[in-house]
Amino acid sequence: MPHLNEYLKELRDRVEQGISLAFLDFTGKFEESNLERALQYSLAAGGKRIRPVIVAGTAEAFGADQSQWTGFAAALEAIHCGSLIHDDLPMLDNDDTRRGRPSCHIKFGEAVALLAGDAILPLANILILQYSQDISPSSKLDLLRLISDSTYEVCRGQVRDVELMKEARQSDSETLIRLHQEKTAALFKAAFVGGGLIADAGPEQREKLARCGESFGLFFQLADDLDDYQEGADQEGEEMVNLVNLLGRDEARLRLNALKSEIEELSTSMPIKPLLEALFSLIPVEDG
Ligand code: IPE
Ligand code: IPE
Ligand code: MG
Ligand code: MG
Repeated sequence: MPHLNEYLKELRDRVEQGISLAFLDFTGKFEESNLERALQYSLAAGGKRIRPVIVAGTAEAFGADQSQWTGFAAALEAIHCGSLIHDDLPMLDNDDTRRGRPSCHIKFGEAVALLAGDAILPLANILILQYSQDISPSSKLDLLRLISDSTYEVCRGQVRDVELMKEARQSDSETLIRLHQEKTAALFKAAFVGGGLIADAGPEQREKLARCGESFGLFFQLADDLDDYQEGADQEGEEMVNLVNLLGRDEARLRLNALKSEIEELSTSMPIKPLLEALFSLIPVEDG
């Protein structure tokens, strides 16, 4: 992983601590069963935590504090982890490993993994309700709506993805971009917008945050695809849903740089410039 600047490192440490405590506090309320073991296994550290970092960084940039953002940051990361539990199942991507460890269904069995993924949805709602201090009831409702809308979008994108792969349909870049807007960018959009919402940012700023999140999500996915391409990753069946394979490496790099400029332009009138700089340092765009 590239060098993390001090701001990002400090923020990420607090995010990791805050969301891990919320996960443990919640699952610890129950007599431990394989459901809690599977949830803890899949929610445990190991991922980059980039979505909750965006929630925290955005919320703090607009003036909120940790006790206010913890619930939504944890909820969004939980949704992300849950989508990965299901994504790895044999009827979807059939991946045996995730983050360098056995996937949830390899460790706990398919039935438990399916149900743990289901349990993530109510868990996310509970995290918002229980771990968002000093947030008005109407803002909590807005956050619940935001997490529900974005999770629904992820499901739509996953269905589109599965259909493209299973039916071996030819695709074009517009279809793939729409797929990525749903599958990947929806949670990034929710991260930026949620951060603004927690800090009571005005409607104009929230609108800009939404556009920033959409573009950042596409940037993230395209950079990920470029990384796979450069590493020569040969993921069976995934080739045709990889934008880089369709656009070519040079066009992909051009689009990445265009997305980056668009995001930087959007952020000029918002206090999230240091956050974006830190995020871009995490995902460098190679020149050649
Ligand atoms: C992986 O997301 C899935 C994609 C949308 C490409 P991340 O790269 O954020 O995964 P973790 O959480 O760091 O493992
Ligand atoms: C991850 O997508 C799942 C979601 C975004 C819901 P991918 O299947 O493209 O990502 P990896 O390669 O498994 O992390
Ligand atoms: Mg997938
Ligand atoms: Mg996958």
